[in-house]
Amino acid sequence: MSDMWNSVAPGWEANAEFVDGHLAAATDVLLDAAGITEGDAVLELAAGPGGAGLRAARRVGPKGSVVLSDDAPEMVAAAARRASGYPQVSTAVFDQSAILTEDGRFDAVISRHGLMFAEHTAAAVREATRVLRPGGRFAAMTWGPRSTNPWLGLVLDAVGEQFGVPFPPPNIRGPFSLDDAALLTSELEAGGLDGVRIQAVETPMHADSVEAWWERVPQLAGPLASALAAMEPDVREQIAQRAIDSATDVSRRDGDGIVFDGSVLIASGQAPH
Ligand SMILES: C[S@@+](CC[C@H](N)C(=O)[O-])C[C@H]1O[C@@H](n2cnc3c(N)ncnc32)[C@H](O)[C@@H]1O
Repeated sequence: MSDMWNSVAPGWEANAEFVDGHLAAATDVLLDAAGITEGDAVLELAAGPGGAGLRAARRVGPKGSVVLSDDAPEMVAAAARRASGYPQVSTAVFDQSAILTEDGRFDAVISRHGLMFAEHTAAAVREATRVLRPGGRFAAMTWGPRSTNPWLGLVLDAVGEQFGVPFPPPNIRGPFSLDDAALLTSELEAGGLDGVRIQAVETPMHADSVEAWWERVPQLAGPLASALAAMEPDVREQIAQRAIDSATDVSRRDGDGIVFDGSVLIASGQAPH
């Protein structure tokens, strides 16, 4: 799995400002849900280029600390480059289900669009709970239901329709694997957290045009990017046309550009005292 994410790390680094801008307001809700304040020690899991952790670094200030972690070394290298102006930020390579640090080290653990890729969600949450101090907070952002995120759902639909099978296959973890509030609640509770709460936040996605949106999405959607790269050019072209046609239908005009609906869920809870 990390090989696949390593291969899309350049695309994520190139588009990091766009992703961080798209998710800025929702990321503030994530940091609030994690209770992050000045001086805190924060761990970001599955950090990619580290956008959420870098936003946390501005909150914790010079007296705090933030570790940006991911199991894909190329993502961590991108995060380290972006963190160069932040002395309170360090980086680490490890899997979210096997965190290489002692118990109780952090005030807060955050994750933005990473928890859905854990093989066993509750086990990953339990591991995050282990490294929280008693009363420390965990908060994870996941994509809301596919129907509320047409900008991504329609790309997966275009690939699935091309081959006559769902994409990603139902047994493979994908962006919408944790898109349900009841499921998230039970997974966080099974991971040992108290006071679990789920918030839904709208994340409209703006683009200059449908074509500009299409350029960007395959660079970011990890499993999809690998699948598209492996296809014959004419198959890729058919998928692109299908996706662009659907995107034209479901997006709305917005000033000089377009906008798609979008939504995320923010799940949070507290490590037991
Ligand atoms: C959709 S990207 C999100 C990146 C970043 N958190 C953001 O919001 O900009 C998912 C990230 O999860 C990481 N990831 C996937 N499985 C992981 C695992 N088991 N342990 C740690 N990181 C993982 C990938 O390498 C990738 O960087």
